[in-house]
Amino acid sequence: MKVPKRLEPLLQDGLIDEVIRPLKSGKEAAVYVVRSEGAIRCAKVYKEANQRGFHKQSLYREGRKVRNSRQARAMEKGTRFGRKEQEEVWQNTEVDALYRLAAAGVRVPQPYHFIDGVLLMELIMDEEGMAAPRLNDLDLTMAQAETYHAALIHEVVRMLCGGIVHGDLSEFNVLIDTQGPVIIDLPQAVDAAANNHAARMLERDTNNLAAYFGQFAPELLTTSYGKEIWYLYESGNLTPEVTLTGHFKGQHKAADLDSILREINDAREDALRRQLARDSD
Ligand SMILES: Nc1ncnc2c1ncn2[C@@H]1O[C@H](COP(=O)(O)OP(=O)(O)O)[C@@H](O)[C@H]1O
Ligand SMILES: [Mg+2]
Repeated sequence: MKVPKRLEPLLQDGLIDEVIRPLKSGKEAAVYVVRSEGAIRCAKVYKEANQRGFHKQSLYREGRKVRNSRQARAMEKGTRFGRKEQEEVWQNTEVDALYRLAAAGVRVPQPYHFIDGVLLMELIMDEEGMAAPRLNDLDLTMAQAETYHAALIHEVVRMLCGGIVHGDLSEFNVLIDTQGPVIIDLPQAVDAAANNHAARMLERDTNNLAAYFGQFAPELLTTSYGKEIWYLYESGNLTPEVTLTGHFKGQHKAADLDSILREINDAREDALRRQLARDSD
């Protein structure tokens, strides 16, 4: 096929031997099947910021590391340089998340190179060697839905153990290969410790999964894995081996009672101190 302009430099550099075919052009990226370093891989070409929706990026941006204060100021002002920098942070977030998650044993495509706004990564394939289908493309039995849901909840836990919340997890961003679900599309991933919206995003991710798989296995519709997982994470008890119930019984009430008792004690001590100060006058 005719080589897309954005891939030309990678061909010239020898990082890509051949562009085989376009795979998918989504809202934010165009993905191609390529031959690279002798293997069949895929190349994700990010679209320019003005060609794609800036979906509530400020929520995701919070707590992200920027290189320096000049970059931060430019990004805040939204100048052309700022938008370019923002774009770079956005793409780097996906690449960083993929490297971190692949290393942590989460099922994501293995990234190989990121150059000129193009990410070269493993092509997730079905048993025939074709690009794997998205979860949304499949019709599931109840048993398959339950198995895939459990596997994905396990991956969500592993991601959070690695400090990351996906932020856009749904049937459109999960591929199914011969081993089960593989998670893709992470430019909006958030740092769980640094972003105040992380809990909400985690809950939305797990709710999306429950709603999708719930069509095939209705008992999943009443689960609340997100709340349960976040509670364990915040209390320092989340491990990849954790056993979950899918239900959350509002343990936060106990935590609230503790903090109320602390407040009462503090107030009592303050009153005592004031009394002592008055007495010694
Ligand atoms: N590593 C991969 N292996 C196989 N297919 C992929 C891979 N990465 C992306 N795709 C395909 O390309 C589509 C778009 O990629 P995605 O990362 O979701 O970008 P976006 O949705 O932002 O355009 C996916 O829905 C999937 O069908
Ligand atoms: Mg996508």
